[in-house]
Amino acid sequence: MVKPFIIGTRNSGEFLHAGAKILKEGGTALDAVEAATRLVELNPNDTSVGLAGIPNILGVQEMDATIMCGKTRNSGAVGALKGFKHPISVARKVLDDAPHVLLVGAGAERFAKAMECEEGDLETELSRKVYKAFIDDAFDDEGVIDESQKWVVKYAKSQNLKKWYEKLADEHHGTVNIMAMDADGNIASAVSTSGTALKFPGRLGDSPIIGAGNYCDNRYGAAACTGMGELAIRNSTARTLIHYMENGLNPEEAAILSMKDIHDLSAVGGMNCIVMDNKGNTTSATTNPDRESVHWYYDVDMTEPEKRIGINVNP
Ligand code: GLY
Repeated sequence: MVKPFIIGTRNSGEFLHAGAKILKEGGTALDAVEAATRLVELNPNDTSVGLAGIPNILGVQEMDATIMCGKTRNSGAVGALKGFKHPISVARKVLDDAPHVLLVGAGAERFAKAMECEEGDLETELSRKVYKAFIDDAFDDEGVIDESQKWVVKYAKSQNLKKWYEKLADEHHGTVNIMAMDADGNIASAVSTSGTALKFPGRLGDSPIIGAGNYCDNRYGAAACTGMGELAIRNSTARTLIHYMENGLNPEEAAILSMKDIHDLSAVGGMNCIVMDNKGNTTSATTNPDRESVHWYYDVDMTEPEKRIGINVNP
């Protein structure tokens, strides 16, 4: 019998307390991952998830999130969601109450309002400052940005947009991944992000796409991604990781192979993953040879999360 536990990426170690508390009280993995993700979404110092998230190219914050239940493989996802404090809880409502898996934009907002999800302004002084810094850094030609922001159209038409985004490739995104197993052996996984900095309006990354940025299945485990979402979409990275485990690889072997799949694309940008199996083994990996791959582990007998170092997968 595996001890209930929760794991998360990046700076989420301290936020795992909320999920661990739920697991210690006999709660579900789904509730645990949602609770921990909500805390990350509320962190005003984290400019890539929820409050203070980096805006799109027009200065508008558009949030993506998914939550998945490994027992039923029921899933809820929202994309390009504006004006709600907890994208992960809107995704949870989709999982619990909608006849659909993925809602985006105005439809997602209509649904969230109908479900009485908490509305809120996610913009902060910090997010405005970071946006301005990105814009200042991204454009050498100040004349490009005109008052009406019609320059976005100009860039798209002139086909410079793709090249321009390559400049932003690796550092300009962040995402939180959290997954857990409860006392019944059920697994759940959650992902939330404001997406790539200065993304084109309406752009969805891997985070709201089940199978790309998030997947779990009680029979095998869970996997989720951070990094340049387009790469995880192209490889269905989260589902593929589970597929590798289904075919007998352990989490480390699966993580290494999936990061090699990303290298095989020979594309600009990096990818990172976090993986657990249903025996309680966990790992994380990155395509970046220089960045430390970190995840945090917290089981019900612990009082603090434990930092675990993952694998660098070189090209
Ligand atoms: N992985 C987050 C994104 O690309 O939006």
